[in-house]
This record gives sequence, C-alpha cells and structure tokens, in this order.
Amino acid sequence: MTTSYKGHKPPRRGDGQLPSRRAVLGGALGLAGGAAASTVARAAPEPAITDIPPWMRYLGDPVDAAPYGMPSEHEAHVVRRTVSWLTADNVSSINFTPLHDLDGIITPNGVCFERHHSGAAHVDPAQHRLMINGLVDTPLVFTMEDILRFPRENHVYFLECAANTGMEWRGAQLNGCQYTHGMIHNVMYTGVPLRLILEQAGVKTNGKWIMPEGADAAAMTRSIPIEKALDDCLVAFKMNGEALRVEQGYPLRLVVPGWEGNMWVKWLRRIEVGDEPWHHREETSKYTDLLENGKARRFTWEMDAKSVITNPSPQAPITHGPGHTVITGVAWSGRGTVPRVDVTIDGGKNWQEARMSGPSMDKSMHRFYFEFEWDGAPLLLQSRAHDSTGYVQPTKQQLRDWRGVNSIYHNNGIQTWYVDEDGVAENVEIS
Ligand code: MTE
Ligand code: CO
Repeated sequence: MTTSYKGHKPPRRGDGQLPSRRAVLGGALGLAGGAAASTVARAAPEPAITDIPPWMRYLGDPVDAAPYGMPSEHEAHVVRRTVSWLTADNVSSINFTPLHDLDGIITPNGVCFERHHSGAAHVDPAQHRLMINGLVDTPLVFTMEDILRFPRENHVYFLECAANTGMEWRGAQLNGCQYTHGMIHNVMYTGVPLRLILEQAGVKTNGKWIMPEGADAAAMTRSIPIEKALDDCLVAFKMNGEALRVEQGYPLRLVVPGWEGNMWVKWLRRIEVGDEPWHHREETSKYTDLLENGKARRFTWEMDAKSVITNPSPQAPITHGPGHTVITGVAWSGRGTVPRVDVTIDGGKNWQEARMSGPSMDKSMHRFYFEFEWDGAPLLLQSRAHDSTGYVQPTKQQLRDWRGVNSIYHNNGIQTWYVDEDGVAENVEIS
C-alpha cells in the first residue's frame, strides 16, 4: 500500500509561518517497533558529571532575589507566539500556547494563549462591578468583595477557541502544534457557581437566556441558555491558585465548561437575563459555520473531542536518533472525559492504544504517552480521541464531507505529522 501526503517544507525551529510547498510524495512506510529496548543512557564516566560544574562552586541567589518567580533562563523559548499574517493588528488579536514545550495537563498562567477583540483591558478591581439585570426579581450590583462572600468551587477546565485549527480547513498550513492547536489552555479555576449569583437576583420564569458582557472596549457579548448558566458555569477570579491574569480577564471572567472559548466573557461586568437569544455579532457573522448549501450551523457551543501529538511535532523534532522514543500529546472533549486515545505511526494503517496519565476530569485536558522503538524510517503520526460519550474524533476529510470548507471554526479533525529519517516533523495531510 502506498501512502501519499501533502505537506510543507520542514521548518526552522519555532517558525510557523513558512509558505506552502504542497509536496505530494509517495512511498511505503515501514512499521517500526519489535526491536529490543535500546538503552537511553550514555557510558560512564563523563566529564559533565565527574567534573564539578560552576554552579556547585559558588553560593546561589538569596531567597529574595525573585519575589515573583520566573522560569529558568534556559526556558526562555517557552513563550506564546503569534503568526504574523494572522495578527496584522496586535489589539484585535490572537497568540498561541506553546503546547510542544509543556507536559502534564495544566497550562502555566504565563503561557495561556490570549484572544482579545479589543486588547487586554486593565481593570481596577476596587472599581469593578458585576450587575445582574433583565428578567430578574431584583436587579443587583456586586463588588469584588461581595463576590468573595459566596461559596466558591475549584474546577479544572480547558478553554478552546472555536477557531483553534481553523486555518487547516482547506489543507495543511501552519507548521507546529503551537499554531495549529495552541488556541487552548487548561487551568484550575476558583470561582462562584453562576447559579448562586443568579438565585440572589431571582430569575423570572420567562428568563431563558443570559447575556454576559465584558468590560473591555469590545464589550463582548454572547447569548447562553439559562440551563447551562444554572448548570456548571462559574464566575471565576482565580486561575491556578492566583488572581486571573490581565490577559485572561482580571478581575472576573465567566467560565463556560466544555463550550467554545468565545462565550467565556472576560472582564465580566454585566449579565442580562432575557427570554430569547440576542443574535449578536459573535453568534451570527462570527463563530458560525457556513455549509455548502448556504445554511449556517449556529449555536454549536459544545467543543467536540479532539487530540494532538505535541512531541514530536514540527517545533519539537526527534533529536536523539533511532531507538526508544516517547510520543506524547493532549486530548479533550467538551462533553466529558477522554478515557482513550489511539496513536498510529504509519498514517492510520495500524492503531495502538496510548497510555493515559494524570487526572481524568470532565471537560479538562488529558495527557497521553506512547513509547516505541523507532527504527529510523519515516513516520506518519496521528492521534485519535475517544470521549466518555463514545464519540470518536473524525478525520479532516470526514469533517469536510459533512461541512465543506467554508468555515474557520470547529475543526477537530485528526492531525498528521510526517517525521523524516532525521526526526524533522512537518504538518501534512494524508490523501
Ligand atoms: N471576553 C472579552 N470581554 N473580550 C474578548 O475579546 N475573547 C473571547 C473570550 N472572551 C474575548 C472574551 C474569545 S474569542 C476567546 S477564545 C476567549 O475569551 C479567550 O480567552 P483567553 O484570552 O483567556 O485565552
Ligand atoms: Co475565540
């Protein structure tokens, strides 16, 4: 069987903006594996361990050298990145989480991707208010201090922008999982169940929808059904234990678990209760999928199950050569957990179950690993998520058959990385 793929020129590390080459190459790929486990160590003695390094010869920094700690200087490459042609203007903009440099399931606060429609607003918490109005018995206004007097909860949830992987609808384009899949982060939120706040105001019986509004220059608004608002939405003020970052909506953001990121209104200042959706810009011209027949899918809130191999990937090639090799990646579903991820190294001819590791929580990211003996032959790597409802991540072609290629939203198709004999990976599609 011959496998062909379309792809790009191998990138320089960290560069996701190379022009398309659209190569179509053929050739059978040998199935790796089966060899005896190779050693992953090197022979002793080695000067790097037998000689005394400089940092053992002198005292280190005093404890107050960094009142707020930063990563090691050797980790300076672990940063959010932009794609120049996507961010002509830096204010209505997007940057991407460096998924290939992370492990586990929690995204560190400093590298959570950002999406702003009008820049990141700097809000003074002392002056910030949250108002509940519309179809309620008593319109109410809360200070931040008032919010902190409600019972609060902690939950880990992923936030994925509906446009994540959106540039890949028509074919392989961006070279790196940071760019193809990095519009996602996964943090622990501390917040008040929205239900408790709405109950204080008293939702009228005809109150069927809510409209959260942001305190940024975009005054972002979305319509959310009252069932979701009363179910698991949070009004959050902390992420990973510390205050929300300015970029993530300090001092208050709405958390809408499992649903598209656009609904997670940042700098939350007002929630109006109404009897029907408002049909605002972000739910009509944007965040909808125009189908081939001219009709649009609307109100597609739940994020379908998805996964991606983060290592190796175009920004993280295999550098150690053939032998024992660790493949890892992340998976998530807006409908529950991801109990199973399959991995293939031969473009889908053979699938094997990956090893899930770490906590498995509803609507949170999951981590998977797949260890194998690489024989040095080219690889076509893919991962496929199965969520707790039985839904299986589709191929990109299946998605196109169902929805055409007009949309830039809700692309949860299976990602392929081609890895050559040198371990260099590139974004390709199997045809
Ligand atoms: N809320 C406000 N007020 N303004 C915004 O521009 N962007 C939305 C949403 N909430 C936005 C907002 C979009 S499209 C997404 S994907 C998420 O916030 C991004 O959240 P993040 O910046 O924490 O990654
Ligand atoms: Co978004």
